[in-house]
Amino acid sequence: AAVLALAAILGYVLGSIPFGMILAKAMGLGNLREIGSGNIGATNVLRTGNKTAAALTLVLDGGKGAVAVLIAYAMWGEGAAQIAGLAAFLGHCYPVWLKFAGGKGVATYLGIMLALNPIIGLAACGTWLAFAVLLRYSSLAALMAAGFAPVWMVILSRDTTFILGVVLAILIYWRHRANVARLRVGSEPKIGQKKSPKT
Ligand code: G3P
Repeated sequence: AAVLALAAILGYVLGSIPFGMILAKAMGLGNLREIGSGNIGATNVLRTGNKTAAALTLVLDGGKGAVAVLIAYAMWGEGAAQIAGLAAFLGHCYPVWLKFAGGKGVATYLGIMLALNPIIGLAACGTWLAFAVLLRYSSLAALMAAGFAPVWMVILSRDTTFILGVVLAILIYWRHRANVARLRVGSEPKIGQKKSPKT
């Protein structure tokens, strides 16, 4: 139990680093809260018009999830790796440093999946990309990637990440409530579109 608590703390601390916000500030792109959806993730960083900053946010937010999983796996094994992954996701969505108002967890989710199971991670990235290219909605692509991941787990591998995959899919849906409402009425902005209602 002590090991799992350590894995959770490690994951949370790493996950709660708001790279998007830090980069936007450091690169002089402004306050993400006042841009687009107000979210701290790569999709909203892209709305500043700076693709490099968006790509860096994606890689770093994904990387922190992957690093949390890989460190926990190396030190304590599979169960701890999953706990660290979940904690990193929660750290990104509910960071204490931002009064628990964090991001939507998609990049971090993909990093966690890639580290836990590269085949499932790649399948999730592929699902995101396919829907993003076809439909041009970042939020919808994320919902599809997270929703399909447990299906890929059943089809492609018989590992133990299924329950975590379902839990994370539910959490991602929860974090995208406002996006879902906008998708329903047709007001969700497409990828790169500057205008977006506040989330
Ligand atoms: O990863 C977040 C994305 O799915 C939606 O972001 O800024 O459009 O709410 P945003």
